[in-house]
Amino acid sequence: MALTFQIPLNPQASRIALDMTIRSSAPTGLRAAVTGLGRMGMRHLEAITGLGMTVCGVSDIAEQARAAAREACKLDPSASFADGVEMLRSVRPDALVVATTAPSHAPLVVAAAKAGVRYILCEKPMATSLGEAREMMDACRRSGTLLAINHQMRFMEQYTRMKALIGSEQLGPLASVVVAASNFGLAMNASHYFEMFRYVSGVPVHSVNAWFEDAKLANPRGPQFEDRSGRILAHSQSGPSLYLDFSVNAGNGINVVYICRYGQIVVDELNGAMRVIARKSEFRDLPTTRYGMPSDIRTESIAPADVVGPTKALWTALLAGQSYPDGEAGIHALACCVAAHVSHENDGAAVAIGQSLPDARRFQWA
Ligand SMILES: NC(=O)c1ccc[n+]([C@@H]2O[C@H](COP(=O)([O-])OP(=O)(O)OC[C@H]3O[C@@H](n4cnc5c(N)ncnc54)[C@H](O)[C@@H]3O)[C@@H](O)[C@H]2O)c1
Repeated sequence: MALTFQIPLNPQASRIALDMTIRSSAPTGLRAAVTGLGRMGMRHLEAITGLGMTVCGVSDIAEQARAAAREACKLDPSASFADGVEMLRSVRPDALVVATTAPSHAPLVVAAAKAGVRYILCEKPMATSLGEAREMMDACRRSGTLLAINHQMRFMEQYTRMKALIGSEQLGPLASVVVAASNFGLAMNASHYFEMFRYVSGVPVHSVNAWFEDAKLANPRGPQFEDRSGRILAHSQSGPSLYLDFSVNAGNGINVVYICRYGQIVVDELNGAMRVIARKSEFRDLPTTRYGMPSDIRTESIAPADVVGPTKALWTALLAGQSYPDGEAGIHALACCVAAHVSHENDGAAVAIGQSLPDARRFQWA
C-alpha cells in the first residue's frame, strides 16, 4: 500500500494488538495523550510509543475504542476517559494527538492550548470551518503551543523524491501536477494534495476552480459526514498548477503526473512505482513544441509508505524545531476545500484563496 492515508475500513482491523509496551525511559521524555481512538488514533498510538513517548492518557466517546487502546497500550483504566477535556485536566500531558473526526478538532485543540499542552498534532481536515481553524491558531499562539496538522506529505518518499527531481537539470521547472485519482473525496484525500502541491512546487495555491458531481460521498465514519467528488483546477500565482480528477465513476488507482519543462514523472502511488521520462540532454534546448524528442526513460520503485512512518517523522521534526506542517499548512488546505465548494456553487468560477472565503460556514467533513 503506497498511499499512506488509505486505511482499513473495518474498525476491528485497526484494533489489532500492537507492540505498544510503554517505555518508562522515553528518549524524548514526553508524556503524550491521544484523543480519538479509531483507525487513525490506533496508528498514532503506535507512532508515539515507537518514538519512546509515554502514553499518559487516552480518550474516546466510544467505550469499545477505549478498551482497544487500553489493551494495546497496557494502560490502567484510570488513564482512559470518555471526555477529552477531562483527560487534559486529569493527566496534564505535554503532547496531545487529536485523532477524532473533524467536528471536535477545534474544541479539543483550543481546550488543550488553554490547558498548556506544549505540542499538539491534530488530524486533517484541520476543522470544519475556516473560523474554527483560525481560533485554533489563535489559542495556540496565545499559549505558545506548537500546533501541527497531519498532512504528512513532506515525510513521504512519493513526494520527497519528486521534489528533488523537479527543477533538476534533467527535468527542468515544474509546469503542472495532474492527479488522476479515484473516488477518494475532497476533504478525505484531495485536501492532502493541496499540501502536496505546496510542498513539491514551493508555492501555495492562489485560486481554485471546481466542478463537483451530484452524488454526495458516503463516509465510513458515519452518516452525519459528507464529502464530494469531482474535478478541481488549482492555480498558483507564479505558474505551476494542479489538476485533480476524483470522480464518482473512478474506482481504481491513483496516478500522479509531474509535468516539467524537459520531461515527466509518472507515479503510481498505490503500487509504489515511478517512471521518469526526460529529453536526452542534447535536445533539451529545443522548443517545447518538439515534444517527441528522444528520451531517457527509467522506472523505479518507491518504498511503500505507511501512516505510522511519516507521522513519526512529523513528530521528530516538530520536536526538533524543523519544518513540519503547521496551522498555516492546515488552513491552506482547508481554504482550498472551502474555495472549491464556493467555486462549484458559482459554475466553476475561479475563487481566490483567502479572498472573502466564508469564515463561519461549516462543512460536514470527517
Ligand atoms: N492523515 C491521514 O493520513 C489520515 C488518514 C485517515 C484519517 N485521517 C483523519 O483522522 C481522523 C480520524 O479518522 P479515523 O479514520 O480514525 O476515524 P474513525 O471513525 O475510525 O475514528 C474516530 C474516533 O473518534 C472518536 N470521537 C469522535 N468524536 C469524539 C470526541 N468529541 N471525543 C472523543 N472521541 C471522539 C470516535 O468514537 C472514533 O473512535 C479524521 O479527521 C480523518 O479525516 C487522517
